[in-house]
Amino acid sequence: MCGIVGAVSTRNIVPVLVQGLQRLEYRGYDSCGVAVYDDGLKRARSTSRVAELGTQVETDHIEGTTGIAHTRWATHGAPAVHNAHPHFSHGPGPAAAKAPGRIALVHNGIIENHEELRAALQAKGYVFSSQTDTEVICHLIDSVYDGDLFEAAKAAVSQLHGAYAIAVFCKDEPHRVVGARAGSPLVLGVGKDGESFLASDAMALAGVTDQIVYLEEGDVVDMQLGKYWIADKQHKAVARPVKTVQVHSGAAELGPYRHYMQKEIFEQPRAIADTLEGVQSIVPELFGDAAYRTFQEIDNVLILACGTSYYSGCAAKYWLESIAKVPTQVEIASEYRYRDSVPNPRTLVVTISQSGETADTLAALKHAKSMGMEHTLTVCNVATSAMVRECKLAYLTRAGVEIGVASTKAFTTQLAGLFLLTLALAQSKGRLSDEQEAAHLKAMRHLPAALSAVLALEPQIISWAEDFASKDHALFLGRGLHYPIALEGALKLKEISYIHAEAYPAGELKHGPLALVTGDMPVVTVAPNDALLEKLKSNMQEVRARGGVLYVLADADSRIGSGEGLNVIRMPEHYGALSPLLHVVPLQLLAYHTAVARGTDVDKPRNLAKSVTVE
Ligand code: M6R
Repeated sequence: MCGIVGAVSTRNIVPVLVQGLQRLEYRGYDSCGVAVYDDGLKRARSTSRVAELGTQVETDHIEGTTGIAHTRWATHGAPAVHNAHPHFSHGPGPAAAKAPGRIALVHNGIIENHEELRAALQAKGYVFSSQTDTEVICHLIDSVYDGDLFEAAKAAVSQLHGAYAIAVFCKDEPHRVVGARAGSPLVLGVGKDGESFLASDAMALAGVTDQIVYLEEGDVVDMQLGKYWIADKQHKAVARPVKTVQVHSGAAELGPYRHYMQKEIFEQPRAIADTLEGVQSIVPELFGDAAYRTFQEIDNVLILACGTSYYSGCAAKYWLESIAKVPTQVEIASEYRYRDSVPNPRTLVVTISQSGETADTLAALKHAKSMGMEHTLTVCNVATSAMVRECKLAYLTRAGVEIGVASTKAFTTQLAGLFLLTLALAQSKGRLSDEQEAAHLKAMRHLPAALSAVLALEPQIISWAEDFASKDHALFLGRGLHYPIALEGALKLKEISYIHAEAYPAGELKHGPLALVTGDMPVVTVAPNDALLEKLKSNMQEVRARGGVLYVLADADSRIGSGEGLNVIRMPEHYGALSPLLHVVPLQLLAYHTAVARGTDVDKPRNLAKSVTVE
């Protein structure tokens, strides 16, 4: 995680750096900082939000034409000013440590051999002022610096193990910034009037330049006024294409909403309509030109993802196996990449990611490819992301920028994309009749209206949230296709309200978790009118018999009535296979309103970041 911006210019670049950081705050917001060259190194660092850093740089008159900036998600060392980036190096020896700094550096990623490098640098006399792995890179560059920052950076990064994107400059070469990346994203922005920029995400450069170079693994870039050079991982000069990218700022008006999460929940009818726009019929080419052939060559699916995206994969497994009859395995990316598994080249490897930059998912994808599984497809919300570049096939969801850390519209649009994938695979295997295709397409087209009807339930959800606000724990139950929805509901509640929440397949309750049920443990039950409803009703009885209080999302015709300890919200209509897209919405609203009632920072919950670009 962490966000980096860097610039070489002839104007005061600090406002651009700070604005860039604001757009990268989704990557982490534990602390932030900016450093510039102004007759030496100057910096401002803060454990507040970027907006306050903006005020601080104005008050402290931090100005300069060369600079770097950073917003941090803490890995090594607590979120404190002395651990905030940029870090400065001072040269070896305690006296040097008191002198003004020479090298300024920001970093995104994790350096795995930082302890050993730190010990070697300490032995040379370097004095450390933070607990970060980043400061190691800073002193390492200083230790090999001999008047040429590009050469020093190349020499230093070849000693690093782990993931990094860095931006660095030196007071002895004031109009030069060097960047490098391996395992963490970094783009070069080619600006006007000889300006050059670095950023973790092109979004940081919106309004500054749309000319973007996506640096590749191991690249080192040297930016000077009016020119730049790139060296590849062998440190040979290399030309990378400059792409014109429609850079959106990520900024969005809140309109009538109090938080981005609430806005994004209410955007779901539009997001689903956009995601399905142009789908007139089910054809493999929805996923790319090579999809027809690929779908013929695979006979099973492996889904790799994290967090909410993993839960959309869990729901898709039910569709893929029941509709397309394609055996499907869903794996948490961070587990898959490190376990011994049996590769099958006839597997379609499907990654699911809102950001397209999640380190664990990207690494799991590369791991699958390295084992000979070459058929890759991603369901992703960011067209320019590494995930889309790494996969042969893609379905781009059109949720629009998601700002709230808690994923909402990304989830439902992923489900829409995965349902289309199910239908396309079913069709290519001869398992989808024309009548079935027409019925599914009709149901999908009606989704935006159906979602709007569910959103109208908000007042009833608010009254549930009032009960939840004072609780410490909650259970979520579902069965079959709706078990992943229970999982997603529990994740939403825990990440923004900080209430401990767990989800179980309802039939599993009696095998242990029933012991937790008391009048103080609300039990949310997702109860659509499907083949498992009667079984689920028995599970609900088990809860009621122990004094548990149920909060049930039932379909209109579920024949579940409200009563003592039984709170029921009726969904407007039964939606068959697509019902998960509707049932998740009240759970998103429940988490949102509970968090609001508890006064948490809904859009930026503690300890989290929107995009998880470290392992
Ligand atoms: O960008 P991705 O979809 O790959 O992100 C995966 C998870 O980090 C993400 O879904 C996370 O779990 C969300 N905070 C959940 O709301």
